Amino acid sequence: MNLSDDELEDYYMMVNDILANKHFQELKYCPHHGINRYDHLIHVSMLTYKKCMNDEDINLRDTVRASLLHDFFTDEDVNGVRGDKLYKVHPVVALENAEKYFTLTDIQKDIILNHMYPVTSTMPKTKEGKIVSLCDKECSIKEFAYNRVIRKKDDAYHLDDLLEEYKGTDTKPKTRIKVANI
Ligand SMILES: [Fe+2]
Ligand SMILES: [Fe+2]
Repeated sequence: MNLSDDELEDYYMMVNDILANKHFQELKYCPHHGINRYDHLIHVSMLTYKKCMNDEDINLRDTVRASLLHDFFTDEDVNGVRGDKLYKVHPVVALENAEKYFTLTDIQKDIILNHMYPVTSTMPKTKEGKIVSLCDKECSIKEFAYNRVIRKKDDAYHLDDLLEEYKGTDTKPKTRIKVANI
């Protein structure tokens, strides 16, 4: 998915503190849908940004930030829980982690806690939560397909250079972020 330079700058300014968080950076080493959890979260949050950027009924900042946090857990955080149990446990752990480092609104909590619907039984209460749940499914399907069918080595990407340059500042990014075209 591609954002224009202006969109990318807008997106980055909403989430740069999350991307720079040390625990969040550990997600780069957690396998997820055949890629890693950090990249998955960026895919979902960028898609969410794209879908919501022109919707005046949506709280864009809340939605983009919570979509980036919806799977904020390392494998250690869930104590090796796997399979069906993980579907229920990881949104709760992601919410705990997110609350530990960031101040969350009720919309953000709803997005994180209920993003697994309909795999889990609780439907998101907010419009924002429903959108992120759908974006998560769309990206998950594309990531599985991308990894198994069309992945090329050169498509690997990350935000490290950008983070190194702008860590802890409010300076707008000048570097174009490369994003895999899932
Ligand atoms: Fe999830
Ligand atoms: Fe997810």
